Amino acid sequence: MSDQQNAPHDGAPHLTDADIEAAAALLDAGELVAFPTETVYGLGGDAASPEAVARIYAAKGRPANHPVIVHLPPGGDPRYWAAEWPEAAQKLVDAFWPGPLTLIVKRHARIPDAVSGGQDSVGLRCPSHPVAQKLLAAFSRRRGGHGGVAAPSANRFGHVSPTTAQHVRDEFGAAVHVLDGGACEVGIESTILDLSRGFPALLRPGHVTPHDIARVLGEPPRLPDGSDATAPRASGTLKAHYAPRTPLALLPFEALEPLLSKAADAGETVALVARASRAGAWAQAPGVHFVAAPEEPQAYARELYGLLRELDRANVARILIEKLPETLEWIAVNDRLGRAAAAFEAQQQD
Ligand code: TXA
Ligand code: MG
Repeated sequence: MSDQQNAPHDGAPHLTDADIEAAAALLDAGELVAFPTETVYGLGGDAASPEAVARIYAAKGRPANHPVIVHLPPGGDPRYWAAEWPEAAQKLVDAFWPGPLTLIVKRHARIPDAVSGGQDSVGLRCPSHPVAQKLLAAFSRRRGGHGGVAAPSANRFGHVSPTTAQHVRDEFGAAVHVLDGGACEVGIESTILDLSRGFPALLRPGHVTPHDIARVLGEPPRLPDGSDATAPRASGTLKAHYAPRTPLALLPFEALEPLLSKAADAGETVALVARASRAGAWAQAPGVHFVAAPEEPQAYARELYGLLRELDRANVARILIEKLPETLEWIAVNDRLGRAAAAFEAQQQD
């Protein structure tokens, strides 16, 4: 994870200690603060305060039965928030924290119900972004070293997660105080691994891969295939999520070509997101707003949400996206693209 320790902060203003303290004071007073992490921006509130957590739900328009992740500073004690702390959890913390891995464990009784959406578990994560770390440390100090910040992604429910401070402002306007820490290095939400049920189960793929987890635990995590009826609820695991507003189709390149021809015949402008190595002559075709997709999964993940937001504003009739290979290295990008496309398929049926 060392590549994320020094995330670039292109164009981000310098934040002073006073800026960080002012934001921590807002959290202390039960207010919300949006802050950068290495994955996406979070909308934070005091995890020990049911009122602050209720504010998060209200701002997002999120149903109250969806749990939020508790964010801890480096050196924070995850066991303070957990009723059980399995050996596997400690191994993963040692290997990947701070970094983009959220662990689900049985929750301690001190955690407000609202944080866990009524479930008996809690998601814990220690982000590696320096601004997140400073904010979390400053807030935790105000709570005798045991402060935690509940934070979902800083977007309205069902929208694409924000990867810049401007994205957060686009979602909430001036209503939310935003700490600007530049563009997020990872670009998609953290990997979520459930350790609360006696075996490791991947709930949401991310930058920390099943392979990374297997290497540390000595066994691969169970993968999310939708067939596990005992799996806990997670909004990121709803089929239709991460939706842009423009209709979106996700198909292998061969299946996109007839749609491109049809759009050309109808005189429609469409966006085409495909790896340049696949797009061929369509990249220059009239009526095609071509976006060369990164050929490599980490770079694709970093650009994905910004790209979807940009294409939403590009005034195209449809967004056509090349479906990527169904291999483990693309699992996280495929997951997010699949949900964005599913959101549109669901709308079409309504
Ligand atoms: O990268 C991230 O994880 C970002 C940054 C801000 O840290 N946060 C994030 O939070 O993506 P959110 O709320 O947008 O997505 C967290 C997912 C949701 O799908 C939620 O339902 C699930 O984690 N989750 C949280 N606590 C859980 C729990 N106790 N059991 C099962 N799922 C849980
Ligand atoms: Mg989210």
